[in-house]
Amino acid sequence: RIAYVNGQYVPHAQAAVHVEDRGYQFADGVYEVCEVWHGKIVDAPRHLDRLGRSLSELRIEWPMARKALEFVMREVVRRNKVRNGIVYMQVTRGVARRDHYFPSGDTAPSIVITSRPIDPRASDATAAKGISVVTYPENRWPRVDIKTVALLPNVLAKQHAKENGAKEAWYFDKDNNVTEGGSTNAWIVTKEGVLVTRHAESGILRGITRSVILDIVAREGLKFEERFFSVEEAKAAKEAFVTAASTIAVPVVKIDEAIIGNGHPGSVATQLREMFHTATD
Ligand code: PDD
Repeated sequence: RIAYVNGQYVPHAQAAVHVEDRGYQFADGVYEVCEVWHGKIVDAPRHLDRLGRSLSELRIEWPMARKALEFVMREVVRRNKVRNGIVYMQVTRGVARRDHYFPSGDTAPSIVITSRPIDPRASDATAAKGISVVTYPENRWPRVDIKTVALLPNVLAKQHAKENGAKEAWYFDKDNNVTEGGSTNAWIVTKEGVLVTRHAESGILRGITRSVILDIVAREGLKFEERFFSVEEAKAAKEAFVTAASTIAVPVVKIDEAIIGNGHPGSVATQLREMFHTATD
């Protein structure tokens, strides 16, 4: 395996960043995870748009021209011979003597790109069974719209989920409304067959998978509402599911102790999962 680090393709085992990288010391950086499907990077333009937004919110420069970055991402996928899997890209504010203030203007951002295969049969098997989630009080900073590498709250929430027999944690805010998962967006389907996901104005990352699914929903003319939904409403829903670039749509069959629907993956979630790759850029 190879990785791309600051201008060079290097063997993955030797790929390293400096100990004074601000990503390492301050989590002062942003990232993207894109799906690789049949050797192609899925929705690259949308991921690069979001990367640009994350960078500008944190006032970090692009590490290279967008077109060049797109090329290197494809090259990392190609050199690793990844057919199905993910490509990971991380940009930090760069290497400088530890000091909270931004370093001087001539400090270049650091960039790392890696790629690894994921067996689609394993993901399909997980989706065919459905996953359990546990609810978890929202404890992240309000700027979760920025895709930063500062993921400690997400790490703790997901570890809590794992230790309680679940795959994902669903955060709920002070009004008991679900925000999103530790690394996924959260969705339900009501008894009336209406798809519901929280609107993207506050409390969630604007998921790329979420946006593609919304395009499919519009195309197929499905009933849909972007609004708050509570933990109670989710537990009483006909279906629930999560979305992320690394897993696409995965049905949820249990929330805490509540069985969702009949305890099997719902048909809407399953169909959206199947249709996903018909709508990618
Ligand atoms: N996670 N919400 C959070 C908090 C996330 O970390 C992610 C993605 C999503 C879904 O976004 P998208 O559809 O653009 O992947 C929502 C990535 C996959 C990760 O951290 O591994």
